[in-house]
This record gives sequence, C-alpha cells and structure tokens, in this order.
Amino acid sequence: MIQVNKHIQDLKPSATLNINQKVKQIRSRGETVYHFGFGQSPFPIHDSITTALAIHVKNNNYLPTNGLELLRDQISNFLNKHQEIQFDSDSVFIGPGSKELLYQTILILEGVFLIPKGSWVSYLPQIKSKNGNYEILETLFKNDFKLTSEVLEDYCKKNNQVQKTLILNSPNNPTGAVYSDEELKSLALTCKKHNVIVLSDEIYSQINFSKNFSPSIATYYPELTIVFGGLSKVFSAGGYRLGFMALPKGLQELKSIYTSLFSETFSAVASPIQYAAITAYKYEYSLQNYVKESSHILKIVSEYIHANLVSMGISCTKPEGAFYMMIGFENFKDKLQSIGIQTSNQLANYLLENYSVALLPSTDFYFQKDEFFFRLAFVDFNGEEVLKAFKNFDGNNQEFIKIHCPSIYYGTQQIMKCINHLI
Ligand SMILES: Cc1ncc(COP(=O)(O)O)c(C=O)c1O
Repeated sequence: MIQVNKHIQDLKPSATLNINQKVKQIRSRGETVYHFGFGQSPFPIHDSITTALAIHVKNNNYLPTNGLELLRDQISNFLNKHQEIQFDSDSVFIGPGSKELLYQTILILEGVFLIPKGSWVSYLPQIKSKNGNYEILETLFKNDFKLTSEVLEDYCKKNNQVQKTLILNSPNNPTGAVYSDEELKSLALTCKKHNVIVLSDEIYSQINFSKNFSPSIATYYPELTIVFGGLSKVFSAGGYRLGFMALPKGLQELKSIYTSLFSETFSAVASPIQYAAITAYKYEYSLQNYVKESSHILKIVSEYIHANLVSMGISCTKPEGAFYMMIGFENFKDKLQSIGIQTSNQLANYLLENYSVALLPSTDFYFQKDEFFFRLAFVDFNGEEVLKAFKNFDGNNQEFIKIHCPSIYYGTQQIMKCINHLI
C-alpha cells in the first residue's frame, strides 16, 4: 500500500468534474446537452497576442523567477490605468495561472482563511491540502451572496487572536456579482480594524457589464490586499497559463519568501507566453475594444437568461460581470421533494437526465446539500462567430441569441419547461 499525504488523499473529485464527465459521455453518444456547467471563455484569443507568441516561439531561455521585467512593468501600468490601483513593478509576480499563485500564497500564510459562501470551487481544496484552517462566512441571496462587513466584523470580533486572510472574488464566480465601491469601502474598514489580509481575486476585472473594469478593495485597503489576475478570462487565454499577483506595501517582507518558493517549484513561466502577455497588458485600443465587445455579448446573454428564469419564479443572482449567475429552485422545493429530490446534486442529475441541461450544484460553492442553488455558466456558444455577428446586432436580444447562441436559447427553454412541468 503506497503511503500518501492524508490531506491530499482526502481531496475528492468535485461535483463540477462529475457533471462535466457526464456531459462528455452524453455528447459522445451524439445526444444534445445544453451545457451551463463549463466556465471557459468562449472567445478566441486576439490576433495581437497570438502574433506576439509566434514571434517569440523560439525563445527557450529560462526567465527570471518573478517574471520578465518588461511584463511586470506593463502589468504595473495596466493596474494603474485600467484597474486604478497602484503597485510598483517590483511588487508584481508572474506565475503559471492565478490559481497556482493563490495556492502558493495559501501555503505561505498561517492562520485562518475566510471564504464567503458562494465562492470559487478551488479555494477550499487548496487550503485543505495543507491542512489549513478555514471558515465559511454566511452570505444571503438578497445581497447576491456578497459578504457584508457586519458578518466579517462579527467573525473578527470573536476571533481576534488569530491571523485572518479573507479571500474575496469580484466579479464573482459563481454569482456574477460585482462588489460596489461602497461595499468594498465598508469591508475595507473592517479589514483595517482587524488587520485582515485580503486575497483579492480579480481575474474577471475587465469583464464588467457596465464599466471598463470592476472596483478593487485594494483602492480602499492598499495596506494588506494582494491582487490576483491573469490572461485566462479577460484575454480568453486560459490554456496559456499565465497569471500575476501584486503584493502590497504591508507585505513586502514576503517577497523573498515568494521568490524562494517559486524558484523551488515552477521556476518561471514559459518564456514565449510571457512575451505574448506583454502585448496583452499593453492593452491597446483594439484589445480594449475586443474585451468591451465580449463583455457586451455576455451581458446580453445573461440578461436574456435572467429575465426568462425570473419570470418563471426561479431565484437568480443578477450578473454584473464574469460568466456566471446562481439560480435557485427554492420556490419549487416542496414539489421537488415530493418527487424524491432532496439535494442539489440529485436535482442536477434530474435536470441532465430529463431535460438535457447541465448545471453545477452549489455544494461545490460552499452551500448546503439541501439548498437548491446552481451555478449557471452562460458561455456555451461559438464566441468567434458571435463576435462577428455582433457587428450587425440590431438590439433584438431574443432573435440574436436564438440564431447565434442556440444552446443558450434552447437550454433556457428547457429549464422553463421543467418548471412548467413542476407547477
Ligand atoms: C474565480 C477564479 N479565480 C481564479 C481562477 C484561475 O484562473 P487561472 O487560469 O489564472 O489559474 C479561476 C478560473 O476558473 C476563477 O474562476
């Protein structure tokens, strides 16, 4: 019997993986699935980035552990100009995806990690893999599952001895919610009062449905906020595996620790990818326009789904950014229980088997099993084709979605059909 680190062995395949595997199986039989489970950008990478990659493809040098200086400069400028937060380039670190940088940060920091209910699936397994301490903080549907300063204050007051690290994600996966300036100011005050370190996951920052970027808690709490970002979402380049983090003034003592850990683990991110990323973070007008257009398309798609599902009595968070919303069948709980459905996992299977709709149960996002909420990702369409068609968009959302995003259109119809059968 091979001995394995118990905390890593205990990690379970997530419900997300489960559903994705089932969808694959069904599709391999040639059957249709309306896939609201998968959260990858549907858009193609902008030509300026692929061209830069091609130019540097022969570069086989190891680059500096913390990342290419020119890229770190460019990200520092980008954060200043396009996210309105200040970090000098010396405080910017490049890694193979923001996920890895979050993980290394979690490895480095002691104390307790605070996760608002309705957060990204990977935070907790990362904490568990090092047997770390954590607390899930309560959030409510009426606030689009955003953390309030009252809940944070309450926790901090009761746990004032231990070092606390809050993981905050805006725009949010799974809810699509964006924290407002007011909400961030209020959270920042509480964090300041209790010296809470904040890991601000801003990977979707520029995918915002009404502004060019999303407010950052680093604006109001620059002392102890580490900002995370990367190429995966805004630039639709998840497979390039490049992320960054920016370390605040109050945590400069960690710099050499990060450098050591990076150099003993991943060494440095692939050199051609770092050169390609310089072009991304120059963020010239054509790229800004591409991000604006893709965000506009996501907005239209999200509004279409939201309006239709709400009209059926489904509880939906209102996305203001990212690729997701949470939808709840709480109003139909009695009916669902009467046909033997007791958990969100069972309901996910029921929807897949009977309506060909794939949704992710909220248990992966820190909800209880009997809370009938799901993450709905609205990216199951051909982004390249939709971007082209969008040039002639005439304002008729329904027609546009029916023609160009058929999986979204018919998938929404299927969820509505399920409700019609229940009532
Ligand atoms: C909220 C959130 N944070 C971080 C990541 C990781 O992104 P990366 O590709 O930079 O590792 C994702 C990817 O799905 C995400 O949704």
